[in-house]
Amino acid sequence: MHSLRVLAPLLVAGLAIADNITATVNLGVSKGSTSHWASGFIYGIPDTPNQISDQWYTQMGFRYGRAGGAQLDAPARGWIWGLQEYKGRLASTLSNYQTCRKYGADFIILPHDIWGTDHANFSTVWPGDGGDWSDYDLFVRTLMADLKAHDALEGLVWDIWNEPDIEVFWVRSQQQWIDLYIRTHKILREDAAFDQVQLSGPTLAYRPVSGNTWWANWLAQIAGNDTIPEQYAYHLEGETGDWDNDLQNTNGTLTALLKSYGLPERQININEYANSAEQIPAGAAWWISRLERYDAFGLRGNWLSGWNLHDLFANLLTKSSEPLDYNATDYASAPEYQVYKYYNLNMTGKRVETSGTGDRLFDVYATVDSDKVRILSGARITTGNWQITVHSISSVGLPSKGSVDIQTWGFAGTSVYETVDAPSDRGIVSHAYSGDTLTFPIYQTDASTAWAFEFSR
Ligand SMILES: *[C@@H]1O[C@H](CO)[C@@H](O)[C@H](O)[C@H]1NC(C)=O
Ligand SMILES: *[C@@H]1O[C@H](CO)[C@@H](O)[C@H](O)[C@H]1NC(C)=O
Ligand SMILES: *[C@@H]1O[C@H](CO)[C@@H](O)[C@H](O)[C@H]1NC(C)=O
Ligand SMILES: *[C@@H]1O[C@H](CO)[C@@H](O)[C@H](O)[C@H]1NC(C)=O
Ligand SMILES: *[C@@H]1O[C@H](CO)[C@@H](O)[C@H](O)[C@H]1NC(C)=O
Ligand SMILES: *[C@@H]1O[C@H](CO)[C@@H](O)[C@H](O)[C@H]1NC(C)=O
Repeated sequence: MHSLRVLAPLLVAGLAIADNITATVNLGVSKGSTSHWASGFIYGIPDTPNQISDQWYTQMGFRYGRAGGAQLDAPARGWIWGLQEYKGRLASTLSNYQTCRKYGADFIILPHDIWGTDHANFSTVWPGDGGDWSDYDLFVRTLMADLKAHDALEGLVWDIWNEPDIEVFWVRSQQQWIDLYIRTHKILREDAAFDQVQLSGPTLAYRPVSGNTWWANWLAQIAGNDTIPEQYAYHLEGETGDWDNDLQNTNGTLTALLKSYGLPERQININEYANSAEQIPAGAAWWISRLERYDAFGLRGNWLSGWNLHDLFANLLTKSSEPLDYNATDYASAPEYQVYKYYNLNMTGKRVETSGTGDRLFDVYATVDSDKVRILSGARITTGNWQITVHSISSVGLPSKGSVDIQTWGFAGTSVYETVDAPSDRGIVSHAYSGDTLTFPIYQTDASTAWAFEFSR
């Protein structure tokens, strides 16, 4: 246990609750091996195999994809336009699936896109209209058969319906969606070939907080029907300042909801995270820190449209010539790519326990390997002064009093279309410490730069 600081009396499980300016790293508490939980994105993969070369996938540790042929035009508008147009979307989906598997990434299939919600409206047919499910059942069974026939079940997650709580993706009643959820879950679970496929839901755009009836009614009915998904999925793409748009709050509110419906814990998958303004290096580091702390899978939201939705790794990549020319292949690293690359290639070893600042605006992710301690930090797209306190220095074999030389790397960039080829070397500064605890300041004078700090053990 680390020594108590004079002004840090509140302890929870050995970790001081952070004040508004202090983020903490506790080198004495291991959180297990690294596996870059946050290195996923939705869409972002060209439908032409190998259009983006291997290195771009491997260096960032690409871990999770999610697609279903959205925003393709005729002849690929989806199931509601007939079997041929369904096949167009399926082809795009299978191509993206195979790309993901090539790099060992899991793949979340988006049936609502293969159905064709982006070419639907209030007047077109929706699953279960008038109590008739025959067409939807045929859709699900056709898709299941095609996935089997194409050997596309390994590493697959079936995301039952995306964001039914916003009108872009669902224009019928809440109960009709819950019926869809339960029905689909049962159809999939009747087929033993799909045992290896995980199901995810409710995939709501809004968060699991008390008073949200989409969550409450879904939870109540899945409990009664024994149709609990393997992954609870939802999205965190709201306003930066929204209280519930933060895992630090929703981790607890979801737990409370599950308890009140007698439901078990499951893997959390934030299968869309970060609003578009947050897609700069500081925001990326902040989100990575959060997702890692809560052991939640995360896939970056994708704010592109049309063909560009199927390119650019959800804005981790850009192009040297014309970023939005889908056919150009002169791929380059957008600013955030460098953060994910460092997170994957450099932050190796064991993860250690961390906490973010009490104002929720600055956070850290830290690893300990045989050579070095590495800390990635980011502000939630704002300026300010904070500090990082590292506890239990002696647990990595350093004396409990002395000094360390901290190497700083800066991850700069303000536009998803600019090219940044590497983090910049911001030099080495020696910091004295004592009491087994090291504190150093963060002066965040812009809202976009993320930082990495390294010292040898
Ligand atoms: C709904 O979509 C159908 C098919 O695309 C189209 O014919 C119809 O005009 C649309 N209705 C409205 C109100 O947009
Ligand atoms: C089971 O699900 C159906 C909707 O498909 C719902 O009407 C019913 O109330 C649920 N049963 C229980 C016990 O929750
Ligand atoms: C998140 O919630 C789970 C389930 O209640 C809990 O076990 C876990 O400790 C929470 N995570 C953190 C970092 O507080
Ligand atoms: C890519 O190039 C092909 C061949 O010139 C063209 O038919 C297609 O429309 C282009 N696609 C996009 C999205 O620009
Ligand atoms: C990260 O690791 C790679 C591969 O070992 C190395 O080449 C690179 O210099 C490291 N980058 C930083 C910023 O430490
Ligand atoms: C900490 O930050 C919160 C807002 O994030 C603010 O309400 C509170 O006053 C701050 N406390 C201190 C001591 O500055």
